[in-house]
Amino acid sequence: MVNSKKRFCSYYTNNNEIVEFMVNNINVKKTILEPCGGEGAFIDQIIKLNKNAKIDTLDSNPEAVQKLKDKFSTYKNINIWEGDTLFDKNLDSKIEYYDSIIGNPPYGVWQSVERRNELKNKYPNCYVKESYTMFMIRCLNLLKNNGKLSFIIPDTFLYLHRHEKLRKFLLETTSINDILIFPSKLFPGVNFGYAKLCIINLTKEVNDKNIINIYLDIKESSDFIEITKEKIHPKKVFQNEVLYRKNYLFDITADGNILHEVKNKSVEFSEVVNCVTGIYTGDNKKFIRRKNKEVKNSKGYLDVDNLKKYIPIVKGTSNFPYINEDNWFIDWSKEAINYYKTDKKARFQNDKYYFKKGIAYPMVKSSNSKAILMENRVFDQSIVGVFPKKDEDIYYILGFMNTQIFKKMLNAINPSANGSANYIKKIPYIIPDNKTYEKVSNLVIEILEDFKLIQINQIEIDKLIEDLYI
Ligand SMILES: C[S@@+](CC[C@H](N)C(=O)[O-])C[C@H]1O[C@@H](n2cnc3c(N)ncnc32)[C@H](O)[C@@H]1O
Repeated sequence: MVNSKKRFCSYYTNNNEIVEFMVNNINVKKTILEPCGGEGAFIDQIIKLNKNAKIDTLDSNPEAVQKLKDKFSTYKNINIWEGDTLFDKNLDSKIEYYDSIIGNPPYGVWQSVERRNELKNKYPNCYVKESYTMFMIRCLNLLKNNGKLSFIIPDTFLYLHRHEKLRKFLLETTSINDILIFPSKLFPGVNFGYAKLCIINLTKEVNDKNIINIYLDIKESSDFIEITKEKIHPKKVFQNEVLYRKNYLFDITADGNILHEVKNKSVEFSEVVNCVTGIYTGDNKKFIRRKNKEVKNSKGYLDVDNLKKYIPIVKGTSNFPYINEDNWFIDWSKEAINYYKTDKKARFQNDKYYFKKGIAYPMVKSSNSKAILMENRVFDQSIVGVFPKKDEDIYYILGFMNTQIFKKMLNAINPSANGSANYIKKIPYIIPDNKTYEKVSNLVIEILEDFKLIQINQIEIDKLIEDLYI
């Protein structure tokens, strides 16, 4: 049984500063839609400013609808009904009808397979697992030309590949006035799976000269008041500039500036390396062994006992950069390999890279992710295996992947924790001059031979590579 919170995604907007800020960005004098009314937090604020505001609101949760009806029973100007905003027939007759739309749509609402298929049909440009994207498209259709929309949603649409079409649509058909990014903890009592939330204020009009105000540094609710008083200044970005960028990326982190600056002097990392993910056994607890109980995140695994049957595998995050510690082992008997190749859940993928010399980078990145050298090892799917197209580049690239600038660029391309192969491939790579190449390669070889040298050598490597980029 799916609980009501998961089914309707009812995390309500309980933050006065946010509600007031958003309502200030719409027109409360004309027709308004609240597409998922919930507890009516926005409606409360709208009628404070204009008690006669003409408001339509619906919600798919009958209990929420009943509460709204009770709460606003004396207001003839507030029209409340139960309905599914994404398919509601009543709304179908109100295309380009509303002057303002304001909401906190559901983000990742639970959906049955049938519903997912219906949604895919109706909203082909959306990633249906993130329900807020379909609310965005639906509401832009319901909004009049020159109408205003204010939504509070996760910030993932600003940078994930899967939302590229949504970004293009927004950039081509609307003028984005503000983007404000802030930690989801500003919603009291709610623990979102999302790291950051975003308020987007836009006008439905095409304006070639539009400038987007981007606020990246909001830390507390009172910052919304400071923004209204113009005491906090935004980063200003030409909307057209974003539209002409590859993948329509907003570059929402300060680190994004580097990506811009090196655009003309770099190639995509994928031109010099192959990036692949490794094996999945189908049943790790059965086929994988740990070195001992000291190994991080190894609860529930058995210690390795037979080094004929088990061979080392690179897996998870590493304690140190550059060097591999052999903390994990995989059953490499004939029967086990046969299982990996045939079991439905297992993935014997990219096997031509197994045992090749390459670099391992953790799939889930942190501010402290480390690249290590893999030699004669299998690697699993928690690793992005990076294999230079020219063997001799391995030391330089290993050094590069352990620099601060590499982390900054990866973070700018994808600020979420998932550092999958596809993002690493897109890192801008500046082909180094011979001197830098030789120096960095030698410093890396020295570290591999004597790990004590890491402290001095890493500073030098960072400096040499930063000089290329900045
Ligand atoms: C994130 S809450 C926000 C509520 C409200 N905007 C507020 O700020 O208090 C989402 C609301 O959307 C409703 N909801 C979920 N799916 C919906 C759908 N397909 N159509 C209409 N409402 C929906 C939920 O019942 C819930 O009340």
